[in-house]
Amino acid sequence: MENIDNLDDRVVTRSLREEDLELETSLRPKTLSEYIGQDKAKSHLKIFIEAAKKRGEPLDHVLLYGPPGLGKTTLATIIANEMGSDIRVTSGPAIERPGDLAAILTNLAENDVLFIDEIHRINRSVEEVLYPAMEDYSLDIIIGKGPSARSIRLDLSKFTLIGATTRAGLLTSPLRDRFGVMSRLELYDIESLTEIVMRSAKILNVKIDRSGAEEIGKRARGTPRIANRILKRVRDYAQVLKGGEIDREVAKEALELFEIDELGLDKTDQNLIMTMIEKFGGGPVGLDTLAASTGEERNTIEDVYEPYLLQLGFINRTPRGRVLTKHCYDYFKIEYKD
Ligand SMILES: Nc1ncnc2c1ncn2[C@@H]1O[C@H](COP(=O)(O)OP(=O)(O)OP(=O)(O)O)[C@@H](O)[C@H]1O
Ligand SMILES: [Mg+2]
Repeated sequence: MENIDNLDDRVVTRSLREEDLELETSLRPKTLSEYIGQDKAKSHLKIFIEAAKKRGEPLDHVLLYGPPGLGKTTLATIIANEMGSDIRVTSGPAIERPGDLAAILTNLAENDVLFIDEIHRINRSVEEVLYPAMEDYSLDIIIGKGPSARSIRLDLSKFTLIGATTRAGLLTSPLRDRFGVMSRLELYDIESLTEIVMRSAKILNVKIDRSGAEEIGKRARGTPRIANRILKRVRDYAQVLKGGEIDREVAKEALELFEIDELGLDKTDQNLIMTMIEKFGGGPVGLDTLAASTGEERNTIEDVYEPYLLQLGFINRTPRGRVLTKHCYDYFKIEYKD
């Protein structure tokens, strides 16, 4: 088997990399109208935000879910912005003890937004503090130990919790049930990605025409974070070798050099698919088996690679495991046997 590139070395990885950090803050849209695509999520949120503002109440708690890099963090800051609220940002794994969460909650002011990223990774004892906080804006704390221990209830400011997770199914149902608004972010279509690339190029002062932006959009696996990252790499290529301007040809050449194919698939995807073909006759193969034979983590396969392969129609989920489609065989020019 071919050696697998480290996930962190991939241009098309969806997770956040160091080089994205400065990029992300400057490229992050700040209002709903600047936020491209995701029309369904946007139109729902617009209504809920308007209604909450009219009533003079905080927005209902919001759960944002979907694969990495689609704009959950961005949307959370936009929601706070549109509500005219301050936002406090933390993440599931960062809140170690119930007391840590209690401290955060008691410091919130009326109408504040508390954003908890990776909320599925919150531990159980911390999660229990969230239930009354979300439901009644209150906090139950236990004072003393043993038989003399007693519980007192503290009132909290009325706040909005925004949780983000890669999969809503990873949340316990009592937690999931306490969100009034659940918004699922979808992979972006090529048109939206083209717009995102055009917008980012403008902010970064990169000269690009629509055909170049579209070529990048096509290879961005439905993911704005990847689109922005590819734009940056192609910009470097264009600056060094092509006088700085990006059109379709320049984008194509650069992406070929980076070994990202026409659909945005790279070595790791190809390895995954070839493993399924060569070792498992195209499937069905279970996720754990696939993880073991490719050296990728099960969760990474499920959250990062699979959504895009599903969108492409290259893979199907069946009760017996994952199966490659004829469409996938055709793309790789390999004979398909039923
Ligand atoms: N709708 C959009 N319009 C324009 N740019 C976007 C949009 N969504 C995301 N982006 C860009 O993509 C980058 C990644 O988005 P963001 O960090 O919000 O993703 P995420 O879903 O929170 O990812 P993760 O799950 O890894 O935390 C942002 O910096 C922003 O520049
Ligand atoms: Mg995020």
